[in-house]
Amino acid sequence: MRLAVIGCGYVGLVTGACLAEAGHDVICTDVDAERIRQLQAGGVPIYEHHLDKILDSARKAGKISYTSDAGEAIRNSEAIFICVGTPPKEDGDADLSAIDNVARQIATEARSPKLVIEKSTVPARTGLELRRALTAYSRNSGLSFRVASNPEFLREGTAVSDFFHPDRIVVGVEDESSARDLREIYRPILDRSFTCPVHNGTCPPANPVHLVVTTINSAELIKHASNSFLALKISYANVIADLCEKIGADVEEVTRAMGLDPRIGAQFLRAGLGFGGFCFPKDLQAFVHLAGTVGVDFEILKAAERVNKQRIERFFDKVRQALWVIKGKRVAVLGLAFKANTDDIRFSPALEVVKELIRQGAQVQASDPEAIARTKALFPQASYHADPYEVLRDAEAALVCTEWDVFRDLDWERAGKLMARRLLIDGRNLYSPARMRELGFEYYCFGRE
Ligand code: UGA
Repeated sequence: MRLAVIGCGYVGLVTGACLAEAGHDVICTDVDAERIRQLQAGGVPIYEHHLDKILDSARKAGKISYTSDAGEAIRNSEAIFICVGTPPKEDGDADLSAIDNVARQIATEARSPKLVIEKSTVPARTGLELRRALTAYSRNSGLSFRVASNPEFLREGTAVSDFFHPDRIVVGVEDESSARDLREIYRPILDRSFTCPVHNGTCPPANPVHLVVTTINSAELIKHASNSFLALKISYANVIADLCEKIGADVEEVTRAMGLDPRIGAQFLRAGLGFGGFCFPKDLQAFVHLAGTVGVDFEILKAAERVNKQRIERFFDKVRQALWVIKGKRVAVLGLAFKANTDDIRFSPALEVVKELIRQGAQVQASDPEAIARTKALFPQASYHADPYEVLRDAEAALVCTEWDVFRDLDWERAGKLMARRLLIDGRNLYSPARMRELGFEYYCFGRE
């Protein structure tokens, strides 16, 4: 099928690249002409594992192309994925102006009916508004558009693998023909008839993928309800960690045993500095806001948000306890990205830590495998080094903020010799407290002794 992707951010690029790799003809467009030029020249504007490889192979196979002319993309496609940003407004509501702009473009540029698929994360009822906008803007052409919602559940860092091996594909539709088209678009994934670029044809066995067909409102709600539930789980684990500290238990032992119950599940129970990124914090806010607009007080989500914000304070309680005065101290920060395997620093808890350290007058030296360039632009006062051992040199404390494997695998015996003081405050519970103490470290973490 001929598909257009409007918005070449993270979701748009992964969606476009994976659908091209699965055999469709994809044309991508973006208002950022520089980004389009970069993509046309074979560049990849974001760091995402495997994305460069599949963009390259799709380009060489003539399956993907880029244009800064949205009209060209719209006219040359049968189905259009809207993947533009929906950033938070001051009051927590999502800013849907980019979606409105795209609706106007589609309505005015199209010369034939289209299936318009909303992939951006949006509050419930946006699809219905989108259809109303398309109808209003196309009054003169008399064209009709079908609208569908197809939320994505991709995780940054494993997005390509997630796209090809989803647990479920959710499509919210108003008519059977839209469901049929979406089933066709995803057929290679549902039938597993693609050549997997992640596992080179030897994918691990997996359960059949569920294609869940719902109303548009339900599909939109599924996305926010899923992300908010996962965020809730993390905050729950973090409160358990606080409790473990007070009564002398080990949060890893507690959550591991909890997770063995399939009704609870083992994932998203890792205690630490809390959740960040461009999805959980904003989706939680938008969901609370949406509930508020229809008179539902989503108290538990507000609590989850509050708990998450307090993680930074809890972390600084530990830093203060360990270092006493922060001003003038040389502090190494390991990890800047909001999680491992991404260069994304948006709403990263690590940045909150860096900001607070700088505010309190520490000399910050930071390391991250992918996120240094972006952080440097925000905090030029800090010094940066890709080699973690270099930032640990002469440091009076090391603060772990992101769970990268390179930090997990650090040789702390070697690091200890470089540091001015063997003090480690671990915001991601990466190490064994006993082992670190054996190595002569004063070691602080979350919910473990
Ligand atoms: C999240 C969801 O997991 C995806 O399913 C969804 O598609 C995506 O948002 C989205 O809406 O686009 P992502 O933001 O990439 O994906 O990151 P996660 O892997 O979910 O992690 C979010 C944050 O939670 C990170 O800061 C991570 O460090 C933190 N986290 C995660 C914990 O603190 N503890 C955990 O146990 C798990």
